[in-house]
Amino acid sequence: MVATAVLGYGTVGSGVVKVIETNHDSILEKTGADLFVKYVLDLRDFPGDPIQERVVHDFDVIINDPEVRIVVETMGGINPAYSFTKRALEAGKCVCTSNKELVANHGTELLETARAHQVSYLFEASCGGGIPIIRPLRTSLGADVIDEITGIVNGTTNYILSKMTEEDLEFDVVLREAQQKGYAERNPEADVEGHDACRKIAILSSLAYGKRVDYTDVYTEGITKITSAEVRYARTLGMSIKLLAYSRKEGDQVTAMVAPYLVPKTDPLSFVNGVFNAIFVHGNMLGDAMFYGQGAGKEATASAVVSDVIEEAQTLGRSVMSGWNPEKQELQPVAETKKQFFVRVAGDVRDRKEVESVFGAVSVVQADLPDEYGFITPVMTEAGYQECAAKLEGRILGMIRIRG
Ligand code: HSE
Repeated sequence: MVATAVLGYGTVGSGVVKVIETNHDSILEKTGADLFVKYVLDLRDFPGDPIQERVVHDFDVIINDPEVRIVVETMGGINPAYSFTKRALEAGKCVCTSNKELVANHGTELLETARAHQVSYLFEASCGGGIPIIRPLRTSLGADVIDEITGIVNGTTNYILSKMTEEDLEFDVVLREAQQKGYAERNPEADVEGHDACRKIAILSSLAYGKRVDYTDVYTEGITKITSAEVRYARTLGMSIKLLAYSRKEGDQVTAMVAPYLVPKTDPLSFVNGVFNAIFVHGNMLGDAMFYGQGAGKEATASAVVSDVIEEAQTLGRSVMSGWNPEKQELQPVAETKKQFFVRVAGDVRDRKEVESVFGAVSVVQADLPDEYGFITPVMTEAGYQECAAKLEGRILGMIRIRG
């Protein structure tokens, strides 16, 4: 039997205990891993809960117990998750986690520590919740050179954008409702400003391209500027608005970005709605593949965490090859990247000469909104767009990039 200890009995931690205990026999039969939860570390007690007898409040109990081979970190945040993870790895215990913040900030160092101590540090649940994406990138797609990852990797923002589209509601109204229903955090900044998606694309890109992508280098915009007007134009264009987290590699150059995009209906990402996530991957041999499913939630996320526990139990005594080279991956400045832009501008469409004199031949989009119209620019760089937009002196009401 392989003893595990779960750090944090919150949503994901209690889900991990549930998965291990509910599916113990089927996991054993399918994988040979005979798992049990020996300890749960939490500040709280859980009277009446079957795990109460296994609750400990002191991490040293876990560190000092040689029977514990796998530590499951589901505490979230940086501290004390970082120091507990580091100490567990140094003590020769495998660690797995759902903590994207910790992986994005300290993953490189923790992977090195794991390798140095012949143990594994795995984090399948850090991106895409229950969707298998990290293991496929590490193993199933090992034969490919990956050159693009584009994901809808944040359920909260996808839920908000879907609801704004389906029910013609404004951002604030949907956010409030999502908070009341428990779909959005009380402090939604990390989700709606794109920071959560940014950490996830940095982790996925580091894995796919092999060098450390620093999430603070990834240009990030959230969805707070999207209004019902943008949604109306999107409908007219037959496109969907999605918060995309993407990275592309061409030769030695890697681009990465998080921003709302207009996605044409011919793209499968346009059909990913509600809290669902999807990650599109392009490989040089594989071509296109898309991974779709539950991007969050107790059982789905716990299922991904336990997939790591199983792999670690199967590979005790060695470090599973995972992660990336500590060398930093420089990113191409976003200003140099090219695309088309949809722009909302104040004024009458009959007076569009000025717009055309600045942007060249544009295609006009009208959505029956008073005193404004929209247009799509030719393919141009971000820097070129900014230069042109500045010439229209405050007449621009909004802009969304178009996925090409
Ligand atoms: N806040 C995240 C989301 C949870 O909305 O997708 C899963 O990482």
